[in-house]
Amino acid sequence: MYYYPYVNRYLEFYKYSIENLENFWAFQASIIPWFKSWDKVLESNHPFYRWFVGGYLNASYVCLDHHVENNKKDKVAYYWENEVGEKEIISYYELYTRVNSFSKFLKDLGVQKGDVVLIYMPLIVDAIVAMLSVVRLGATHNVVFSGFSKNSIVDRIEDSNAKFIITATHTYRRGKKVDLLSTIKEIDSQSVQKVVVLDREGNFVEDGKFVKWPENLEFAYTEPVPVESTHPLFVLYTSGTTGKPKGIVHSTGGYLVYVACTLRWAFNVGDDSIWWCTADIGWITGHSYVVYAPLALGLTSFIYEGAPDYPDPSKWWSLIEKHRITEFFTSPTAIRMFMKYDLEFIRKHDLNSLRMLGSVGEPINPEVWEWYYKNIGKSKCPIIDTWWQTETGGFMIAPFMGIIPLRPGFASLPLPGILADVVDENGNSLPPNTKGYLVIKAPWPGMMMGILNDDEKYKQTYWSKFDGMYYPGDYAIRGEEGYFQLLGRADEVIKIAGHRLGTTEIESAILENDFVAEAAVVGVPDEVRGETVAAFVTLKQGINKDESLKQLIISKVREIVGPVVVFSSIFFVDKLPKTRSGKIMRRLLKSIIIGKELGDVTTLEEEASVEEIKKAYEEVKQSIS
Ligand code: PRX
Repeated sequence: MYYYPYVNRYLEFYKYSIENLENFWAFQASIIPWFKSWDKVLESNHPFYRWFVGGYLNASYVCLDHHVENNKKDKVAYYWENEVGEKEIISYYELYTRVNSFSKFLKDLGVQKGDVVLIYMPLIVDAIVAMLSVVRLGATHNVVFSGFSKNSIVDRIEDSNAKFIITATHTYRRGKKVDLLSTIKEIDSQSVQKVVVLDREGNFVEDGKFVKWPENLEFAYTEPVPVESTHPLFVLYTSGTTGKPKGIVHSTGGYLVYVACTLRWAFNVGDDSIWWCTADIGWITGHSYVVYAPLALGLTSFIYEGAPDYPDPSKWWSLIEKHRITEFFTSPTAIRMFMKYDLEFIRKHDLNSLRMLGSVGEPINPEVWEWYYKNIGKSKCPIIDTWWQTETGGFMIAPFMGIIPLRPGFASLPLPGILADVVDENGNSLPPNTKGYLVIKAPWPGMMMGILNDDEKYKQTYWSKFDGMYYPGDYAIRGEEGYFQLLGRADEVIKIAGHRLGTTEIESAILENDFVAEAAVVGVPDEVRGETVAAFVTLKQGINKDESLKQLIISKVREIVGPVVVFSSIFFVDKLPKTRSGKIMRRLLKSIIIGKELGDVTTLEEEASVEEIKKAYEEVKQSIS
């Protein structure tokens, strides 16, 4: 336990926030500039909550114009570098001019309020310019991680009805050029009217709907379109337990207020900060804490396009030294990867500029926490373990400014305004130190507005398990002092290197191989990535259980979902365990893989003898060991 003296002050502040929820958030909302103040702080039409209703603002104005008008013109917004040695230093004014000019270009192409623009770009300044230009016009962006492949993009275009795509010719990863444009070119979509291409090498040729992002655009002031607080700022797809990834829709007003407040509350960032969040803009962490929160607060950030340990494992640490990073925010997977390397890669760099360290995306095990604290933070930087989700918009549970006692492996206490609890299957609060389901019992401004085109699924997924409570899908324990420890997903979501994937998504991709009859996948613990995938596959009649088919399965999944899916093993079996209603019992498969007792098997379908299935999996178990 690391002792800090301000706990009671925090608890008082927290108590006030919960007891005066609407007043509290109304007060916090002035953290960003509004064109018109709201008429109502919160409109509750359970489970649809709307924040700052009647208020008007524009996210691009909040992030740029406001700072340019308030003495931050010359402040650096981003230092950017990539692994091939390219660099950029962008002030708020430069970013403002680039966004204005590119907005004008997009406007001339026909982009307007209400449109959805899909962005498929690497972590470069232009990607941020693209996001801000879209929202300047009142349009909504749909950023797709550049590691996703064609089918994932097609699904997102169709579901969000994207009319425009902004992409780049390629990105760089571990010394290789990764082509992005050819992936986009394979897509044949009626709804897409234009594709804007950032030409990074000067050999792109315009062709039909593929137009070039003009170089050296002349400055053209473009009026930021005032939008309602509840106007969708973006839609971001994330995986759930069933079906295809769902489009999580975030508001403009509530979301911006929430991400700005939470970044300040968690990391105590200030005007002298050089903030580095290592996430890609394709994920919620990138949206909230690479783009919107740091810009809303007028901070200086560093961003990097490339792999963490390329060309050698000292890369990140050399960048921290070079840019004098003050707050550093990354994932447990990245930390676990660095733990494998010689400490010399770290020791040869001066990391003294660091004040705070952060962790996000998966549970951070206490040994990893301690390693990070000692070797990167030199036992002087608080570790801010932030629990949250795509759906929550921003941090929910995290040690406020690092001023409360830290506990390795615990995300600690909820942030102000967040009423969290751990409950049993019936929704009753559990006593301390008992594993249960994490729930959130009061609305907060960063909460999603819903799932695009699917109100039913929104209600079903998040609000039906427990009456009146938001159910995020995580297991948790509450310690004696009210500290929360997050224990991973309670549903069938798999987290590979912090990337969220649904079992159905992967299984559907496996089924695309015409030799496969059925497939079931489970997440299995992995030392570095947190989890990887174990697949159980039955083959169609007459097909031999040939090892070479496994490679075909892997390639197909990578082609359809993307290289983010990593398999630990694929097993060919004769039968999958199912319930009497035909549902695959993945729980059983997981127990077998991790060597746990099978537990209750009474719901297995009648015709399949339990013994037979146990025997079949015994064989699988032996083949693993
Ligand atoms: O299971 C939790 C885990 O990541 C899930 C959310 O994933 P995603 O929407 O991709 O957002 C990732 C970035 C926030 C959660 O339901 N998770 C996230 N942060 C933590 C975590 N698990 C444990 N500790 C965390 N700090």
